[in-house]
Amino acid sequence: MKVIMLGAPGAGKGTQAIKIADKYGIPHISTGDIFRYNIKNNTELGKKAKTYMDQGKLVPDELTCDLLLDRVAKDDCKNGYILDGYPRTIPQAEVLEKALNEKGDSIDFAINVNVPDDNIVNRMSGRRTCPQCGETYHIVYNAPKKEDVCDKCGSALIQRDDDKPETVQKRLAVYHEQTEPLVEYYKNKGKYKEVDGTKSMDDVFSDICAILG
Ligand code: AP5
Ligand code: MG
Ligand code: ZN
Repeated sequence: MKVIMLGAPGAGKGTQAIKIADKYGIPHISTGDIFRYNIKNNTELGKKAKTYMDQGKLVPDELTCDLLLDRVAKDDCKNGYILDGYPRTIPQAEVLEKALNEKGDSIDFAINVNVPDDNIVNRMSGRRTCPQCGETYHIVYNAPKKEDVCDKCGSALIQRDDDKPETVQKRLAVYHEQTEPLVEYYKNKGKYKEVDGTKSMDDVFSDICAILG
């Protein structure tokens, strides 16, 4: 099964993608996580990506598409995968589609986790993430058992650099301009599904499972 998670920054793509990956036994691939991993390890890619991410802009397609194609060519992707944060532009979607078409393959669903802009800033300001294992929390909606400590691995939680309110506004603007056109793109392909992302995390997950079967 090959699934794409669409949605604004902070809509809950990552939260849901982790649950889906767990239930269906397929890898969760987040281009944002891959970039953050590279930033943490100070790689060339990380240095380049950081200048865009800190401004709330998209990393250019030249740096993103090959990275994604290499990742989905790995052995663990044989039975499918869940993409979180890719594609984010029409050219990125076309690159993926072409690569899959060449193998007589295609994605199964593009699921849009729909959350209005008003809710987003609130979610982002409360988000905390684990720099070690990648687990995501929210200080109100999904608090760790011990304040600012990861339940899974015990590391100190951090706030993401791009979760400052000004940067969140910029990311939202970029989303509407460059990523939202993918809704029409996947509607036209007959792959588009939408869930109400303002529901509780568990209810959103049930709605997604009902689509995936
Ligand atoms: P990326 O890491 O993908 O960030 P994003 O799309 O902005 O999305 P987020 O990770 O912020 O949100 P999410 O939807 O995963 O929500 P989450 O589950 O955490 O990308 C970061 C940057 O990298 C981009 O800006 C860009 O520069 C670059 N980049 C990445 N991919 C790229 C690409 N393909 N091309 C170009 N550039 C790329 O949830 C948010 C919060 O809400 C959490 O605190 C969570 O606990 C809480 N929450 C979740 N669900 C619920 C719920 N139902 N109710 C209440 N709270 C909830
Ligand atoms: Mg995410
Ligand atoms: Zn952790």
